[in-house]
Formats: sequence, C-alpha cells, structure tokens
Amino acid sequence: MTDASPATKSFLRALKGETVTPPPVWLMRQAGRYLPEYRAVRATVKGFLDLCYSPEKATEVTLQPLRRYGFDAAILFSDILVVPDALGQAVSFREGEGPSLKPIRSSKDLDALTLEGFQDRLQPVFQTVERLHRDIPSTTALIGFAGAPWTVATYMVEGSGSKDFVQTKIMAYGRPDLFQRLIDLLVQATGDYLITQIDHGAEAIQLFDSWAGVLPEDAFARWVIEPTRRLVERIKSERPGIPVIGFPRGAGALYQPYVDRTGIDGVSLDTGIPLDWAVGSLQSKVTLQGNLDPVMVVAGGPALDAAVDRILEVCTKGPFIFNLGHGILPNTPPENVARLIDRVRSRR
Ligand code: CP3
Repeated sequence: MTDASPATKSFLRALKGETVTPPPVWLMRQAGRYLPEYRAVRATVKGFLDLCYSPEKATEVTLQPLRRYGFDAAILFSDILVVPDALGQAVSFREGEGPSLKPIRSSKDLDALTLEGFQDRLQPVFQTVERLHRDIPSTTALIGFAGAPWTVATYMVEGSGSKDFVQTKIMAYGRPDLFQRLIDLLVQATGDYLITQIDHGAEAIQLFDSWAGVLPEDAFARWVIEPTRRLVERIKSERPGIPVIGFPRGAGALYQPYVDRTGIDGVSLDTGIPLDWAVGSLQSKVTLQGNLDPVMVVAGGPALDAAVDRILEVCTKGPFIFNLGHGILPNTPPENVARLIDRVRSRR
C-alpha cells in the first residue's frame, strides 16, 4: 500500500465525525458467494475455514469486490467463528447447514477452552491482514472485525446456528456465573485478537453482534452492552485513534443505550431501524452506517434506486457510511451492486 495518509480515506474521515459527500460505501459480506470469482476460489478448498486460514486465498477474495466496485473500505475475509476454533472448540461448516461445534453446557466444557496458543492459531489471519495492508488501494480503508462476545457465545453454547437461542438463554439466565466466565474469556480473547489485527494493519474495527436483538433489556445491558464497552475501552486505551463500529442487529429501541454506553464511534443500523429516528437520536453522537435491505439489491431496478435515494436523503446531512442492513445475499446479481454503487457515488 502506498501510504496515503489515513485522513485521505473517506471511510475513516466519516468515522471521525466528518460529513463526507458522496458518503463512503462498502457492503457487509461484500466478498462471497454472489461473485463467481469467489465461488472459483472457494472450490479450491475443502472446508470454509481452510479459506479463512489461507492468507493468499483470503487476501484474494477480500480484493475481488474492490476490483469490481472500488468500495471505500475492505473487510478482512475471515469469520467470527475462528475465535472459538482457536480457543480449542473445533468449528466445521457443513455444506448448506451452517456452522457446527461441540456445544458448551457445563463448567467442564468451559475448562477445555484455552487462551494458550490462541494467537498462534490465528497467525494465518494476521498474515492476511498484513498482505491486505500492503495490497489494497491507497484510498481504501482496511476493516478488521470480530463477533461480539454475546453472538459468538450463542454459537458456542448452541453448537450451531439457532432460531430461539434457548440453550444460551438458559445458561445466561440460570447460571449467570458460568455464562459470565464464558463472556469474560471471549472479552479477553477477542480483545487480543483485535489488537493484533490492528498491529498488522487494520485501520478500523467492526464488532458483529448479529443476535443482540433476542435479549430483554436487563440481559442486553449485561451480555451485549457491558462486554462491548469493555472491548471498546481496551482498544481505545491500547490503540488510540482506531475507530470501532458496533452492529447490535435487531436491538430496536436498545440501540439508544448501546450507543450511549459502549463508547463506539460508529453504529451499523439494521434494516428495521427507522432512519429519521436514528438521525435525530444517534447521529449527533456516532457515525451512522446502513441500512439498505439486502433483498432490495436482489430485486434491483427502480425499487433499488428509490430505496438508495431515500437513505441518502435522510442520512447524509451528518456523518454517514452507506451499507446494507445485513450481509449481502448469495443470490444477488452482481450488476445490481454496480447500480447501487453508481447511485451512491452520483450523490452531490
Ligand atoms: O465480506 C465480508 O463481510 C467478510 C467476511 C465475513 C464472513 N462472515 C464470511 C463468510 C464476515 C464479516 C462474516 C461474519 C459472520 N459470520 C457473522 C456476522 C454477520 C452476520 O452475517 O450476521 C456471522 C453470524 C457468521 C457466522 C457464519 N459464517 C454463519 C452462520 C455462516 C453460514 C451461513 C452461510 O451464509 O452459509 C458462515 C459462513 C460464511 N462466512 C460464508 C462467508 C462468505 C459462506 C460460506 C462459504 O462460502 O462456503
């Protein structure tokens, strides 16, 4: 990377609170199955994690969407589940079924996890960050990421994806001492992991809390806000100047205390968040990011244009980053992504 000063990167300027026109744009899951060139690389490895642990291939798939669309930010290609994997809870992805892990249900299960060798097992990811730092265009910002402790814990306790999170909630409500130990381990591990991503070239961090929206408010405060606040505090004290974006997907009205109490610099809005409310209640405190419905990009055409225009209309009077409200869908036509980008970039 030719070292253009970070200040020239529109994505980082927006996160510092600047109103940038046209707004910077990137899309969650911008690398992935909707791109034929991703599917070609994916076909050269057996398991999905083999792709995450190959610096050369992970770098290549991170760069693919940049070549097509010139996004203002690149997100490291990896997965939130490399953290449990590196803690010793082996993760596998079965074709079409999502992730699978041996569930954690007791203190004995928890004792089997260890921070020893944790960072060593993640070396390939750090090497990917280093390559990206070197290879991405000088105006593109590099985002590192991790799952937030609550969301990663749901996969660790359920042992797979879930619709109701009953096992995780039973542990959190019924054995808070045990669940706190798991969350504390994740705060430590995730903090180490993110600091090291920053040391290898990540210029901003996004915390994915995809299942933040399933908790009642007291549990949300303890298991979503508090661990996130601790992580942000550590990053701010150990690596000052690195902005953090939080994504408490589905949190509804709890977006407000999340923004007020976690210390994040930017908040990613899910598709259900009313924009007028977010602009009125959140944008004076943090940079907004979001929140186009990913299905709009599948639908395309005039409906897509109108949805993009409405977001730009409401959000661009303050600090804003254009994005989706959740990850891009595998059946998205790549030409619709180009249409979206052109529309955002033509904003004056
Ligand atoms: O481009 C990017 O955004 C970077 C890469 C990225 C992936 N996953 C790649 C991936 C990121 C940032 C993630 C985050 C992630 N992973 C989240 C949080 C965001 C969200 O979507 O809510 C979650 C919950 C996961 C866990 C996960 N990973 C699941 C449940 C699955 C299976 C579901 C599916 O879509 O197949 C994955 C697999 C995964 N992670 C794929 C990709 C591109 C697809 C697997 C493949 O290509 O074979």
